[in-house]
Amino acid sequence: MKKTYKPVSAEEAVKAIKSGDRVHIHAVACFPQILVNAMCERARRGEIEDVTIQHLHTEGYAQYVEPEFENIFNLESFFVGGNVRKATQAGRADYIPVFLSETATLIYQDICPVDVALVQISKPNQHGWVSLGTSVEATRAAIEKAKIVIAVINKYVPKAWGDAMMPLDYFDIFVEHDEPLYEAHTPCITEIDTKIGHQVASLVEDGATLQMGIGAIPNAVLAELGNHKRLGVHTEMFSDGLIPLVEKGIITGEEKMIDKRRIVASFLMGSQALYDFVDDNPMVAMMAVDYTNSIINIAKNPKVTAINSALQIDLTGQVCADSIGTLHYSGVGGQVDFISGAAKSIGGKPIIAMPSSTLKGISKIVPTLTVGAGVVTTRPEVHYIVTEYGIAYLYGKSLQKRAKALIDIAHPSYREELEKAAFERFGSHYYYISKKI
Ligand code: COA
Repeated sequence: MKKTYKPVSAEEAVKAIKSGDRVHIHAVACFPQILVNAMCERARRGEIEDVTIQHLHTEGYAQYVEPEFENIFNLESFFVGGNVRKATQAGRADYIPVFLSETATLIYQDICPVDVALVQISKPNQHGWVSLGTSVEATRAAIEKAKIVIAVINKYVPKAWGDAMMPLDYFDIFVEHDEPLYEAHTPCITEIDTKIGHQVASLVEDGATLQMGIGAIPNAVLAELGNHKRLGVHTEMFSDGLIPLVEKGIITGEEKMIDKRRIVASFLMGSQALYDFVDDNPMVAMMAVDYTNSIINIAKNPKVTAINSALQIDLTGQVCADSIGTLHYSGVGGQVDFISGAAKSIGGKPIIAMPSSTLKGISKIVPTLTVGAGVVTTRPEVHYIVTEYGIAYLYGKSLQKRAKALIDIAHPSYREELEKAAFERFGSHYYYISKKI
């Protein structure tokens, strides 16, 4: 039997949240701002306290991390996004280091139990099913496990297919509110990004299955794939840069072994054009993160080419991608899931691509990681490192050969300093090795 619903106001809906509850919030563009605001208003009136919040990267105004809510709301995010970064670095909010593939596991196994889930969904279709739209990630697990699910029904949430589709009876309390989703506009592609994009594109083979994240480098890579053929996509997220390749018939998914001819992702971040692209589009399967980021699933597709980025890499190939020293900048995310899955796929290529230095001119290739920096991808997991100066292939290489390969793609103004550090670390044998290469 099709469930019907009777909407209430946001203020009424969030009365279901009690002091001491753990609240899961829908991520990225589907962040239900109206419910978050109403929840914070209740705290301001002293009606709730000691509420723990969890979510992946969200867009929007995360006002629960403002100083006025310290010790009233306790954020334990699975990824440190821009809107909670300062609070996390200041210690007012906290972060749970976890592989993206396992965020749903934490919920399913009651390690992070959910009392209330705040989500945003599409209008029901003719069969009484709704869509989680641009963001399925661990939120589907939270909906399945929560004691109470409060849903904003919003006509702007696209009716994306896949795990995103759920029958209305999973949801308990409804608020009707039509508001465009948060948009992320594609950052400008710089000359350096284009050079990196070109290097990475040279590693992408026809028939490859791509994974790439958000930001300038993925778009720069996509912009260089105009002459490729029969590409597929199995990723945790994608952005606007993919659409022209679908329209030109370059992304067909015909060589994939699972989800053939489908683009598989768990969340999206981009412009309204991207959200329109996934609306009622059977080519796109929006799946739960324990499906997209499962190493076993990733490895089933051929030539998986995983393109991720880094904040810092040391001369032995340790990749820091989540913190700048002790300051948490982002999270482990899906980097290790896809690096490992790509390594196990037939013909797969795990790639870390980054500019050789920051905009401020700091080298990203360093003798040793800054104290407190977190290693996300470890030495044995790393394969290709790409900068605007070339490609270093580290897999199966000794420490000294890695150092030489990385120095060759470092910014030229740091190469001498790095050579000196390599010599100090490895001794004269390093010169013998580096001359042989
Ligand atoms: N030392 C000091 N500061 C550094 C630095 C370094 N070595 N490297 C980067 N920074 C600073 C930059 O200057 C920039 O500062 P700003 O915010 O003040 O402008 C900031 O750190 C971000 O650097 P940037 O190069 O712009 O990062 P990005 O947007 O390309 O993201 C990661 C890079 C590594 C943070 C991002 O890829 C990430 O979060 N990865 C982990 C998760 C993951 O890989 N998931 C899978 C794909 S979705």
